[in-house]
Amino acid sequence: MKILVINGPNLNMLGIREPEIYGRETYDDLLAKIRKHAEETGTEVSFCQSNHEGDLVDAIQGAYGVQDGIVLNPGAYTHTSIALLDTLKAVGIPTVEVHISDVDEREEFRKISYVRAACRKTISGHGTDGYLEAMDFLAGGCGGCR
Ligand code: DQA
Repeated sequence: MKILVINGPNLNMLGIREPEIYGRETYDDLLAKIRKHAEETGTEVSFCQSNHEGDLVDAIQGAYGVQDGIVLNPGAYTHTSIALLDTLKAVGIPTVEVHISDVDEREEFRKISYVRAACRKTISGHGTDGYLEAMDFLAGGCGGCR
């Protein structure tokens, strides 16, 4: 099982940005936690983080024919990006949308997710454990849904 973990804008600022919302773990801590989980579960994991929407489009396109699943936290592009939605639809790779914070319990504009329509599942508000849950969901065949 090969999984690509994609993080959008400002997720490289984890540990620094709004720790009361996103916690004190850094982006490097997050990668270490995911790598450890991948080792324990026999998953091959790779990473992409970018603050630029087009880079995220390129990363998703590049996963076509290479990756079995995508764990995607698009950051603020969640709430704005039809381009990311279209790219996920184009490649058809099973994808789980992850948010560290509970986006449904925050501002109204965070309740809108364009990418959600192309994702098998959304995990929101479970902190960084949500990434591991997403990996397990993908490795488990998405709950047998497809
Ligand atoms: C986020 C939630 C988004 O609304 C926000 O723009 C982020 C992070 C989260 O992980 O909780 O950058 O995706």
